[in-house]
Amino acid sequence: MHFTTPSLLALVVVVVSEVLGAVVKEGSTCIVTPTQAAAAATNRKKDTVEATTVDDDTPQILSAFKQCRQDSTIIFREGVYNIRQVMNTTDLSNVSIEIHGTFVWSADNIQYWLRSSYSVTYAGRSTAWLFGGRDVSMRGFGKALFNGNGQVWIDQNRNAGNQNGRPISLTVWRGTNIYIDGITWRMAQFWHTFVAHSQNVTMTNLDMNTTSNSQWKSVNTDGTDTWNSRDVVISNWTVSCGDDCISVKGNSTNIYVSNIVCHESGGMCIGSMGSNAGQPDFVDNVVFENVSLYHSSNAAWIKTYPGQGHVRNVTFRNIHFENVNQPIYVIPCIYSAQNCDGSHITISDIHWENITGTSRYNVAAGIHCSAAAPCTDLHFSDIDIKPMNGGTAKILCSNIKNQATSGLQCTGSCPASQPQQLTGNV
Ligand SMILES: *[C@@H]1O[C@H](CO)[C@@H](O)[C@H](O)[C@H]1NC(C)=O
Ligand SMILES: *[C@@H]1O[C@H](CO)[C@@H](O)[C@H](O)[C@H]1NC(C)=O
Ligand SMILES: *[C@@H]1O[C@H](CO)[C@@H](O)[C@H](O)[C@H]1NC(C)=O
Ligand SMILES: *[C@@H]1O[C@H](CO)[C@@H](O)[C@H](O)[C@H]1NC(C)=O
Ligand SMILES: *[C@@H]1O[C@H](CO)[C@@H](O)[C@H](O)[C@H]1NC(C)=O
Ligand SMILES: *[C@@H]1O[C@H](CO)[C@@H](O)[C@H](O)[C@H]1NC(C)=O
Ligand SMILES: *[C@@H]1O[C@H](CO)[C@@H](O)[C@H](O)[C@H]1NC(C)=O
Ligand SMILES: *[C@@H]1O[C@H](CO)[C@@H](O)[C@H](O)[C@H]1NC(C)=O
Ligand SMILES: *[C@@H]1O[C@H](CO)[C@@H](O)[C@H](O)[C@H]1NC(C)=O
Repeated sequence: MHFTTPSLLALVVVVVSEVLGAVVKEGSTCIVTPTQAAAAATNRKKDTVEATTVDDDTPQILSAFKQCRQDSTIIFREGVYNIRQVMNTTDLSNVSIEIHGTFVWSADNIQYWLRSSYSVTYAGRSTAWLFGGRDVSMRGFGKALFNGNGQVWIDQNRNAGNQNGRPISLTVWRGTNIYIDGITWRMAQFWHTFVAHSQNVTMTNLDMNTTSNSQWKSVNTDGTDTWNSRDVVISNWTVSCGDDCISVKGNSTNIYVSNIVCHESGGMCIGSMGSNAGQPDFVDNVVFENVSLYHSSNAAWIKTYPGQGHVRNVTFRNIHFENVNQPIYVIPCIYSAQNCDGSHITISDIHWENITGTSRYNVAAGIHCSAAAPCTDLHFSDIDIKPMNGGTAKILCSNIKNQATSGLQCTGSCPASQPQQLTGNV
């Protein structure tokens, strides 16, 4: 009897899949085959023509994460994996995950997700997948595709605000030394990614696009948000999302963002922070550099609720954009315009360098700092923003300490009620 290696492997997959689902463990490697592909192979073997039913791949995915949770490699072979349940894979240690297939999250069971998504504590948000551990990599080689069936989520939420239970696609949760690379998202359920209670997280070469094809907009589909995390590197992303592209929220330290292209987004943003008035929120040492933005709401901005804490040492550098509603924006009372001058979140040591492009209307910058805690050490250099339809752009400023030496030529004051997005020239 003579077997070639591939047919032997195929036989093993078929035999094991009938018993265990399509997870094969060979030494320290778990190999996962999607149910549809495994069923198709079984059918071929039995020489039947029965249609394969769409199964739930979540059990076998979780089984692979359990069997290979430590000092292991997990390989997801090509094909479509249907995910119908929440996943909690936060106990990984020294694991390399290689994804060659497509993960599709179900959306015919919206009520299940609203009920079962895991809380991430931040502002009542929740997630479909808690992912973490120590020394874990997840590589997609530009082939992995995460499809959240977001159109269904967008259409049922109908432009409303953040919906409780609407799940973030992937949350890096309590992770240390996490590396995520080469994954494409299409139609995420909610935010594409979230990094929380984690340190040393690198996320590179990610491609995200959640664009609605209906009358309802793809709001609340941020590229990523960081919160209570440190040492995060975000590089080489392309994001089309209809909400914040990269957003650095409270208690984020040492965040480095570079080489990002954003379409239809909220751009590079600090905040929202201070949403829980009882807790201070701190942001320290953030760099955003080499970023291009197209048809977006804001470009390089800071938004806080009136609260306690600080934003300190942030640089926006080499930011270029076309058709951005209000490129530079700073506000201490986001979304409410209440108690704007009573916020005690201090904003200091912020640099805007080489910020160029076109604004949608005649405002390049709207900066209103809290009267109770004026912004200090704001530095501007090489700012060249022109209204896309000609004329000169206004630069509106209030409560900037040492404004005259900040490098910014303010043309007028900025009201506390300055909206995040303008509807025309002011
Ligand atoms: C990590 O796991 C691999 C097997 O995937 C093993 O060869 C290596 O020794 C492990 N590293 C440590 C530090 O244990
Ligand atoms: C996720 O799994 C970890 C490790 O098994 C466990 O400690 C934690 O409680 C789980 N989290 C949730 C929200 O179920
Ligand atoms: C940070 O994580 C990377 C993997 O992304 C790892 O190579 C590196 O050693 C980690 N750094 C530290 C200080 O542990
Ligand atoms: C995002 O997807 C939409 C809809 O498929 C498409 O029209 C748009 O060109 C895509 N954006 C990018 C940057 O590719
Ligand atoms: C970013 O993309 C460029 C061009 O594709 C590539 O040369 C570079 O290695 C990437 N950087 C990272 C950190 O992956
Ligand atoms: C931020 O960190 C501080 C202490 O470092 C903590 O008191 C506060 O609760 C944290 N804020 C949030 C919103 O988690
Ligand atoms: C400001 O942030 C930069 C970049 O993260 C860092 O290199 C620098 O040390 C920080 N400065 C201070 C005073 O912490
Ligand atoms: C950002 O762009 C500048 C100017 O083109 C370049 O010198 C620098 O190396 C780039 N930085 C990164 C991280 O790619
Ligand atoms: C300014 O930023 C642009 C990209 O927007 C870049 O091409 C240029 O090299 C930067 N200038 C300097 C002096 O770094």
